[in-house]
Amino acid sequence: MTNKVKRIGVLTSGGDAPGMNAAVRAVVRTCVYLGIEVIGIRRGWNGLINGDIMYMKGSDVAHIINRGGTILYTARSDEFRTKEGRKKAYNTCKLLGLDGIVAIGGDGTFAGCLAFSSEYPISVIGIPATIDNDIGCSHYSLGYDTAANTAIESIDKVRDTMQSHERCSVIEVMGHRAGNLAQYVGIATGATAVLVPENPWNFDEDIAEKIRAARFAGRTHFMVIVAEGAKRNSDGSLDNEVVGNGGAAQQVAEMIQEELGLDPRVTVLGHIQRGGSPTARDRVTATRMGYAAVMALAQGKTNRVIVQWEGKTMDVDMAEGLKMKNVLSEEEINVLKAMTGSYDR
Ligand code: F6P
Repeated sequence: MTNKVKRIGVLTSGGDAPGMNAAVRAVVRTCVYLGIEVIGIRRGWNGLINGDIMYMKGSDVAHIINRGGTILYTARSDEFRTKEGRKKAYNTCKLLGLDGIVAIGGDGTFAGCLAFSSEYPISVIGIPATIDNDIGCSHYSLGYDTAANTAIESIDKVRDTMQSHERCSVIEVMGHRAGNLAQYVGIATGATAVLVPENPWNFDEDIAEKIRAARFAGRTHFMVIVAEGAKRNSDGSLDNEVVGNGGAAQQVAEMIQEELGLDPRVTVLGHIQRGGSPTARDRVTATRMGYAAVMALAQGKTNRVIVQWEGKTMDVDMAEGLKMKNVLSEEEINVLKAMTGSYDR
């Protein structure tokens, strides 16, 4: 190992995700292990622009592996999108003597890394963390498992009351552009129907038929899981640009009421899905990724994303990785099709 790296920075950026703290801890502990100094950059790229930093020792990351959120805080930085912002950020890097940065976040974070490293001599390594699990080059992003389990726990509770009242429930989960979470949670909770942003929904086919089939089979409770970015496609064109805060679920519920005569109840799970203590999967994956990120920097690598691919932790080229489109799992699509359409005849 050519260990010319003396000091690195670590930051969390974009929407937070359970497991970010575990990744920060792994970065710091691996630096201590290798004799590299590490500086925590607070509030994402804004912290680098403003010199909002904290020197970190191994003890600073004690008791955080089990905590949701991020002790470094997070932000979406508009200033870092500008050349001037990145110039200020590089001045901070020079002042601090940083050789590299580990950035923990989603595709916006990685786009920032690439812009920065193309303009300035600084090594960047990304760690995917987003409850949307929509980083195409990685089979897993930190936070997904915890968010899914949080959603499942809440949905099971909604189901208890909805079943007792023989009602239809429409539950909105996060996922502005990606339906991974909705699809996964839909399988895990035995949903009647699942709507995702990737496939604009058609009321008759995607909702009414499924509810009718369940009704004919004697069911009296129906549960529709809606990703917040799911859009209606009534005549081949998108006609609903409302995203987030219950807009999508509300629209589905209104149609169910009008067209099927049911009296649905809407539950928007919202930000509860982004908090909470990370699951074993998120803690261990975060630790593996944090370790791999520092190792990559110590080996002189730059512009790499640490990914999970077929169960292995590895690094891939960041620009190539960012080009890879997130696709819903084909296997899950098929499983869901069978699970939402099969009732005794
Ligand atoms: O973290 C990703 C995500 O949860 C999306 O699913 C959602 O659309 C978005 O963040 C909401 O972000 P915020 O609450 O920070 O605006």
